[in-house]
Amino acid sequence: MTGKLEGRKSIIIGGGGGIGGAIAHRFYAEGASVAVVDANAAAAESRAEELRSAAGNGDVFALGIDIGDPDAAKRAIEDTAKALGGLDTTVHSAATREPTATVEEMHFEHWNEALRVNLTSMFLLSKFAIPHLRSAGGGVIINIASQLGSVVTAGRPAYHATKGAVIQLTKAIAIENTQDNIRAVTISPGAIETDRLLARHNSIEAIREKLTPGHPIGRLGQPDDIAGAALFVASEDAAFMTGTDLIIDGGYTAV
Ligand SMILES: NC(=O)c1ccc[n+]([C@@H]2O[C@H](COP(=O)([O-])OP(=O)(O)OC[C@H]3O[C@@H](n4cnc5c(N)ncnc54)[C@H](O)[C@@H]3O)[C@@H](O)[C@H]2O)c1
Repeated sequence: MTGKLEGRKSIIIGGGGGIGGAIAHRFYAEGASVAVVDANAAAAESRAEELRSAAGNGDVFALGIDIGDPDAAKRAIEDTAKALGGLDTTVHSAATREPTATVEEMHFEHWNEALRVNLTSMFLLSKFAIPHLRSAGGGVIINIASQLGSVVTAGRPAYHATKGAVIQLTKAIAIENTQDNIRAVTISPGAIETDRLLARHNSIEAIREKLTPGHPIGRLGQPDDIAGAALFVASEDAAFMTGTDLIIDGGYTAV
């Protein structure tokens, strides 16, 4: 049986992390070649090693770069296209871990860093990748936003502002590129059990106790819950989907 992404060539920013890592595994298992890109070079390399020893028939490439740096972002796209023989799918799954602070308390540097990593890097990724997607005859851009791009809690203004902007940026990318068969979609997860979530709390038990009541489905999400959605969006099953925000949040925003 052939995979749903057989022959596809993908780059996954934040592929060393929880959600990006699960997407890298799912894409590879479905036949895609995968470039794992992460600011943490060791995490990118070890994820690539995992893929190489997993079932799949694509190529694997690893790169340690900060995607918020314009020169590095350009180099990441060019090196990936060279290593994989082209590029047709991008996934951006990286964000800062800014400290909790109200607008009044927030340091200007934390605000700027959130904009640079969460938002500007997504602009850079698409800016440099779109010519390759066009050359490939089309492609898919998947940007990981958040349910907190649509609703807010106190103390995370930079996160809310950047995630809301990511949803709008992705819609703009979508409508600018329909004629080239390029689709662009955000996926907005609810709370997903990754190191990022752990870093904001003391223990997994504390996170579950605090956040599960906000998720009517009765549990927090797992990285694979998002990987399944990313596979759907990347595949031909989602051929009519573009310019939308796919919320995968266990009902968080429904109440
Ligand atoms: N975990 C959640 O509850 C949750 C919920 C909603 C949205 N999200 C979003 O999902 C995405 C992935 O989150 P995660 O939970 O997998 O986090 P994670 O910390 O497990 O993974 C993020 C990865 O991105 C990398 N990264 C950070 N800055 C980078 C940069 N400048 N350049 C390249 N790589 C960089 C990190 O090194 C890390 O490996 C983020 O955009 C996050 O906002 C997460």
